[in-house]
Parts: sequence; structure tokens; C-alpha cells
Amino acid sequence: MTPDEHNGPACNIGMERKLTEPCSIIIFGASGDLTARKLIPALYHLFKDQLMPPAFRIIGFARREKTDDSWRQELRAALEEFSRTKPVDEKVWGDFAANLSYCRGDLTDAAAYDALEKKLSGFQSQPLRRNLLFYLATQPSQFGVVIEKLHDSHLLSHDGHPGWQRLVVEKPFGHDLQSAHSLNGELTRFAQERQVFRIDHYLGKETVQNILMFRFSNSIFEKLWNRNSVEYVQITVSERLGVGERGGYYEEAGALRDMVQNHILQVLALIAMEPPVSLEAESVRDEKVKLLKSIRPLRPADVARQVVRGQYFAGVVNGEPRPGYRQEPKVKTDSNVETYVALKLLIDNWRWSDVPFYLRTGKNLPMSASEVRIRFRPTPSVLFAAQCEHKLDPNALTLRLQPNEGISLRFNGKVPGLSVGVRPVRMHFSYDSEFGAYTPEAYERLLLEAVAGDATLFIRRDEVETAWQIVDSIRAGWSGKALSNREFYAAGTWGPVAADDLLAQSGHAWHEPLVIA
Ligand SMILES: NC(=O)c1ccc[n+]([C@@H]2O[C@H](COP(=O)([O-])OP(=O)(O)OC[C@H]3O[C@@H](n4cnc5c(N)ncnc54)[C@H](OP(=O)(O)O)[C@@H]3O)[C@@H](O)[C@H]2O)c1
Repeated sequence: MTPDEHNGPACNIGMERKLTEPCSIIIFGASGDLTARKLIPALYHLFKDQLMPPAFRIIGFARREKTDDSWRQELRAALEEFSRTKPVDEKVWGDFAANLSYCRGDLTDAAAYDALEKKLSGFQSQPLRRNLLFYLATQPSQFGVVIEKLHDSHLLSHDGHPGWQRLVVEKPFGHDLQSAHSLNGELTRFAQERQVFRIDHYLGKETVQNILMFRFSNSIFEKLWNRNSVEYVQITVSERLGVGERGGYYEEAGALRDMVQNHILQVLALIAMEPPVSLEAESVRDEKVKLLKSIRPLRPADVARQVVRGQYFAGVVNGEPRPGYRQEPKVKTDSNVETYVALKLLIDNWRWSDVPFYLRTGKNLPMSASEVRIRFRPTPSVLFAAQCEHKLDPNALTLRLQPNEGISLRFNGKVPGLSVGVRPVRMHFSYDSEFGAYTPEAYERLLLEAVAGDATLFIRRDEVETAWQIVDSIRAGWSGKALSNREFYAAGTWGPVAADDLLAQSGHAWHEPLVIA
């Protein structure tokens, strides 16, 4: 093979994202967990990799008493713990931290916005005063008041003022369709939809972004990507941790709202959508919405047949004893909240008609893994398949989203020897061995895109609302019904037996996520 065949040149689609326009990033919730754990480490790494604009400022906004210096010191200590690269580079940190300042205030207090405005107007260059990214790392119930006050203080506008202003908001985007609708109403009361960047951190993951590259830049797979070749698709997002200290939140959320409404339906949309007309944000998001709208609606009777809830009871995960969900702090002792959900969805469109999409997620499962498995149809039962005592394994393609990020293809091969033996073998592509260990954190990518104003990796209003419609119909089917015995599972197992029954109806079974040695 020539070197080119081994390793062709990379094609950079568009330009490497490099920000040239100065801007200021204002973080509401600057003393909180998300800022320390994700936002500042991500911004530090963008700066370290020389991807931040040549001039930028970061202003933290929260109630707690702090000075610029004490905020920087706290963030420096947090970086020690949360940075993906160690040790922290002191020179880089020093240069980065010089751009950080703190603005103390209550986000309901108009005077606090005057102080923020004053701080901004102290910046010499006009773009630093007018190109503003407001990151709302606060409770969603506070979004409305922040946006109103930003508008009242003329910091947020959408009508031809110089510069740009954008809002980045964190999940959860409501807890049902109605609340999502009113939250979206609050977000767009004083801003245009194009100014709103809703984060689903799954979309910032390299492996999730790779789904579209993989599908639309490889002719061999795209040809097979339809009902003629695919028997079913499984998407698993399993978590080894239980709810732990987050019982209070989980009692309100449950696995369906916490994981399916956002991450899993997003992955499903990317796996199953039609090719977009271009890579523009609106084209990609149009196709995702179209796909979500093609999911066959679930009436209550369908929910009973196609959706399984589960809740863990005490068990052992990796040798460690775990309490049952009902014994976790802040959880009701008779709670019916699901810590596991499995569903079978059908997509009523030309490409996917009658192909089941099995989705599952749960807590206290044997391992933490996210993967998509595409199972292809078997060969006709003649030749080797006819001679095999047990059925030949059909081909399968596994997209390993995390950990062991990569892709595996399973096919059948001859067992060496004089007899005719056939057995499945695998080809593995692994990000680490192919590209080295460099994997930016999802928040790095997302912050970079938000500052650049590219909304492709963010969720549009209609996507959120369509996803809630699906989730609401499932919840309506559950309403008032207690969990049955077949819906409980021991911590450390792969979920309730009812989830196995769900697939067994069609002669299918769940596959454990692939572990690559
Ligand atoms: N943490 C994560 O990993 C994570 C992941 C995904 C999504 N999220 C979402 O991100 C948001 C923030 O989460 P978090 O974990 O960082 O929460 P957190 O640790 O509770 O922080 C909340 C922040 O909001 C500020 N705040 C609250 N009330 C305020 C007020 N009246 N005026 C000014 N500031 C106020 C708090 O500052 P003071 O107390 O100093 O006022 C604090 O900085 C939430 O919507 C959460 O659902 C978080």
C-alpha cells in the first residue's frame, strides 16, 4: 500500500474554527458547580489552544461576596481538579485569568445590571462592549428574569444595534411540553430564536459529531442505512452510578426526562435523519426535526406494549453494595420514579418503515457506556448459514460513543483448520490509537461554536418541543400506574426482565455494550 492508502490527507470542511472577533462572555451562576467544573476549564483549554479571540473578557455574575482575585483563585483551584490536561500551565493560566473579573449581584435586582453595564462600558474596544455571550448557568426558572433585565438595561438587543448578543442556556428545557413552550416563550420574548443556543452537551462530543461524518462521507455504509438492510437499531446509554445525592432532582425528573428527552433522542435523530441539504445549522436542524416528527406517536395502549420502566433495588455494582432507589436520600419510600427506561420506537418514513429502534438508559447498571448498534439483516439460510447448528451472527456495526470511543464492525470469518467452521470476528477503529489521546471536552466545542455564532450543535425550539411531545405521550401512558414486579431490577444488573420481554416479542435481544480491551 502507498502511504496515501494508509492514511489519506485530512479534508478540513470549512475552516478550523478560529475566533477573530473580540467579545465578552458573561456567566450568570459564576459561583456554581457548572462554571467551576466545565465552563472555566473549557475556556482555559480554548485559550491554551489559541482558539479564543485575540481580545476577550469573561465576567462572572453571582450573589456570593467575591473579589476578582478571590474568584480567580477559586477557579484556579477548581482547574487543578477538573482540567483535562495536567499539570495546569501557570503561564497560560496567568494570561487567561487576567481576562476574568467578577460582578456581584442578585439577578433579580436591576441595579446589578447597571453595575454589569458599567463594567462592560469600561472596556476600551467597542466589540468587547457589544459582542456579548450571556451564559445562563442558573436554574431555568431564572432565565426569564435575567433576559428581561438584560433587555431593560439595553445589554440584549436584536434590532440592529452594533455587535451581537447571544444567550446560552442549559438543560433542563422544561419538564413537559407545556413548560418547555412557556420557557421558550420567555427566552424569545426579548431575543430572537437565532440568538438562543440551547445546550445538550452530547452534541459536543466528538463521537456524536462523527455520526454525520460517518454516515455521509462513506458510500459503503450509507447504501445500507435503511429498512432493506437494517434489522434493528439499539441505542444504549448506561450509567454505573446510582442517583446518590441527586435523589431530590431525580424524583422530579426520572430517566425518561433526564436522558431520553434530550441526549438519546438527539442521537437517534442523527442516526436516522435524512441527509441535510447543506451543513448549515438550519438545514441540519430541519432534518432532525423532520425525523423526530416521523416517530410513530405512542397512544397509551402502545406505551404498555412498547415502553418499559424500571427501578433498581439494592444490589452490588462492581463488588460495591448499593442501596435500592427507595432507600436513597430525598427519595420517597414508595416512589414510582423510573431509574431505567427501555422503549421501542418506529419511524414512519420511507427509509425506516418497520425497523424497530430500541432505546434504553438506566442507573446502577454494570457499566457506564453509550453506544449505537446497527444490526443488519441475516443472509439467506443457505450455504454456511444452513449448515450452522446455531444461527450465524448477522453483521453489526457499533458506534462506541463512550468510553473506548470508536467504531466496530462484526462479520463472519472462517475458523482456521480443516473443518468448515464459521465464527463472528470484529474490526475495530479506535479514536485513541488513530488520532492520539487528544479529545476536547464537549463544552470546549460548544463554547467555541456559540462564540462563533454557529448553532448547528445546539437544539432549536421546535426540536425541544417535538421531543417533549414524545416524552409526554409516554408519561400519559404511565400516569397513575405503579411499577409492576417485572419492572424492578437489582443494582448491578442490566435492567428489569420486562425490558428483555420487550425485545423478545420480536425475536430480538439486548446486546451488552462492547468492551474493547
Ligand atoms: N453542574 C452541572 O454539571 C450541570 C450539568 C448540566 C446542566 N446543568 C444546569 O446548569 C445550571 C447551573 O447548575 P449548577 O450545578 O452550576 O448550579 P449551582 O451550583 O446550584 O449554581 C447556581 C448558580 O446560580 C447562582 N444564583 C442563584 N440564584 C441567584 C440569584 N438570585 N442571583 C444571582 N445568582 C444566583 C448561584 O450563585 P450564588 O449562590 O452566589 O448567588 C450559583 O452561582 C442548572 O440549570 C443545571 O440544571 C448543570
